[in-house]
Amino acid sequence: MTLPPVIAIDGPTASGKGTVASLVADKLGFHYLDSGALYRLVALASETQGINVKNAPELGVLAEKLTISFEKGRIFLDGEDVSEAIRTEAIGLRASALATYPEVRRALAGLQHSFRNAPGLVADGRDMASVIFPDAILKVFLTATTQARAERRYKQLIAKGISVKLADLLQDLQERDARDSSRGVAPLLIAEGAQVLETSDLSIDQAVKTVLDWYQSKAA
Ligand code: CDP
Repeated sequence: MTLPPVIAIDGPTASGKGTVASLVADKLGFHYLDSGALYRLVALASETQGINVKNAPELGVLAEKLTISFEKGRIFLDGEDVSEAIRTEAIGLRASALATYPEVRRALAGLQHSFRNAPGLVADGRDMASVIFPDAILKVFLTATTQARAERRYKQLIAKGISVKLADLLQDLQERDARDSSRGVAPLLIAEGAQVLETSDLSIDQAVKTVLDWYQSKAA
């Protein structure tokens, strides 16, 4: 039995991969997996339950038991809409800390595979192409300069009414990039066979079109 095709889109924080990946999924009528949201959910749930961010075994158990659902672009944890609550910088940093534990990554792997349904899946994250879907038909590494990414994240947060300083964002971003790239398990890297898309000077539409063109030539 052939499995539905996967387009894997990996990249550093605020590279625009979430926006591009969900638009590509819409265009193709594919399912969409925001794998970072799963790490953010473990971060939020562990904070609420008072679990120490250094307690890898307990975080792994928690990740196994998460009751989550995705409905019409909203994300629910134990029946509560946490779509906004998981997007803060503090939760992002906590997610990046607990994402270094194999216990947590293993616990979330099955859940990520369960998103692979017909007619296809677009999955975004750090290790979609290298670990979770190594047989992806198209592997994209989406990136932009640190400055461009910090400015994008700044605009996103300000538009949501969250007050932040650009300098603080730049620092958080560099800290998260360094940790995500240097960790022992499933580090952020350009997977073998991945095509690099540098988006600093591209509009969202241009980035989406490029990915769709690359997919069409792979699928042909
Ligand atoms: O939105 P942003 O790119 O800042 O982050 P995210 O994709 O929501 O992911 C939050 C954190 O989860 C990242 O900093 C990574 O440490 C971790 N993550 C991961 O380890 N593996 C993935 N496949 C996705 C996210």
